[in-house]
This record gives sequence, structure tokens and C-alpha cells, in this order.
Amino acid sequence: EARAALPKRPPVVTIMGHVDHGKTTLLDYLRHSRIAEREAGGITQHVGAFTVETPQGKIVFIDTPGHEAFTTIRERGARVADIAVIVIAADDGIMPQTKEAIAHAKAAGVPMIFAINKIDLPRADVDKVMQDLMKEGFVPEAYGGDAIVVPISAKTGENVDELLDMILLVAEMEDLRADPEAEPRGVILESKRDKQAGVLVTLLVQEGTFRVGDYLVAGDVWGKIRAMIDPDGKQVKEAPPGTAVQVLGFRDLPEAGTAVEWVPDEVAAKHIAEERQEERKAREQEEAER
Ligand code: GTP
Ligand code: NA
Ligand code: MG
Repeated sequence: EARAALPKRPPVVTIMGHVDHGKTTLLDYLRHSRIAEREAGGITQHVGAFTVETPQGKIVFIDTPGHEAFTTIRERGARVADIAVIVIAADDGIMPQTKEAIAHAKAAGVPMIFAINKIDLPRADVDKVMQDLMKEGFVPEAYGGDAIVVPISAKTGENVDELLDMILLVAEMEDLRADPEAEPRGVILESKRDKQAGVLVTLLVQEGTFRVGDYLVAGDVWGKIRAMIDPDGKQVKEAPPGTAVQVLGFRDLPEAGTAVEWVPDEVAAKHIAEERQEERKAREQEEAER
């Protein structure tokens, strides 16, 4: 098949699970940074994307919030993922948002890896979580099934290397490839207004290569890429498949989850965006009259 000749791309891994089960701490450990401590109230409220380098290649990680209010963000996170890591605290077990996360991953058809976290705690009960998982229909490999379960401590880093190995193994089986020369497309992970920079958009590139100067459309918003910043804060001129970059240059706030299309020039960009704005207005008018 022609696709087999395409270059491999990094896996996009979404971290999901119940509130405070340790998702952000795990990513912190992986990046050797301390983001969880800086968050307001220690609660993740948005989708953050980071790239982690391993000896076997890059992995793109997407953090999601565990708080029950953020169902849509979890659903979006699952939809863009190649692999979902479901984090379950060993002292707490499977909780409502754990089940919700599993349901989102299932609905999106994304393979799951279960990370039983906080095994450094004296009250950690890994066997109990394994039993919980079996009740949900996932039989761990240790029990003769095929569910991938890795007990870890995001705090001490115990077994985190094993988790990375499992992620890379599943990614390898999925044989993820993308064409860097194809017409670029991606998806908006996050968008916000920054006092200094203006509209700041986190874009996950899924196909092709976005370049500074490119015109793009996301729903009914258009833009011209003024600058791109990689997850390490470095300015980049190009964003190939499997990279998550911050993009400056959107004229308005595109909605998270919206597909991003490349367009050849400003005339086309404006035309598509305006047409969609008209459509939206007509739809809203119709709904208001009903
Ligand atoms: P939300 O984003 O709000 O859903 O939470 P989260 O899943 O990202 O959890 P977070 O990383 O914020 O961690 C919650 C608390 O658990 C923090 O106090 C962490 O220090 C602690 N924690 C996370 N992982 C571990 C671990 O492996 N061991 C121990 N002992 N504590 C942990
Ligand atoms: Na938290
Ligand atoms: Mg978090």
C-alpha cells in the first residue's frame, strides 16, 4: 500500500482519568517540570500539549482535566488521540470520571493503556484496581487477558519507563504515518486571547506541514500564520505532522475541536470564513424564529 511508504509520525497520547488521580503529575515527571504546582487550585482546566523525546522517538502528550465539569474537553482529547492513557489512583480506584474517560476512548475507537498511579502510597491497593478493571471488562495481562496495565508512581517515577515502552509498543502496532507533503490539516486543541500576543491557538498538525506565512481556516475563522511556537517555547518556521504548536495569526477565536484547513491565499481564506459566518447567522436566525 502507498501509505506504507510514508514517514512515521509521533503518536498522540491523551492522558485521561478522574480528578486528582495524577495526570498532570505524570506529565510533569516526563517533562521534569512542575506544572501541577503552578495550576490554580491544582486543577487542570484546559488541554495542554507537550512533546516528550524518548530514545525511540517523540511522543505528543495531551493533558486533560479530570473534574466532572469538563466532559467536552475529555471527549475532544479522546477524539484526537492515537492512544489513551487512563490514569487510576491506586488509593482511590475506578471513579465516575474514570468510567467516563473509558467511555470516551471506546467511543473514539482509541486503544487504552491503564496506568495505576500512586503506588508509592502505603494505602495503594493495586490488586483492588485490577479487580475493578475486570468488572469493567478489562482483563489485565497479569490475569491472562490483553488489557495493558502498568502500576506507576508519577511522584517517584517508578515504572514510568515501562509505561513509555508500552505507549511506544502500541504506537508501533498502530503503524502511524502521515504525509508531510500533503495538504496541511490539523485540529484546534485550545484557543485563548492573550493580552500581549492576541489570539493564541494550540494546533495539532495531523497531515502535511504548516509554515509561517500560510493561510488557514478553522470553522468560520481565518488567519495567516505570523509565528509558531513549539512546546519548549522555541519559535519554529515549520510544523510537520504530529507536532502541537502555538499559532499566532488567527483573526478571531476559533473553537477548540475545530478542524484546521490550509488555504492558498487571503482571498480564499476570507471567502470560506465569510461564507460560513453567513451560514451560521442564517442558522441562528432560523432557530430564533422557531
Ligand atoms: P486534575 O487535572 O485536576 O484532574 O488532576 P490530575 O489528575 O492532573 O492530578 P494532579 O497531577 O494534579 O495530582 C493530584 C495530587 O496527587 C497532587 O497533590 C499530586 O502531588 C498527587 N500525586 C500525583 N501522582 C502521585 C503519585 O504517584 N504519588 C503520590 N503520593 N501522589 C501523587
Ligand atoms: Na489535580
Ligand atoms: Mg491535571
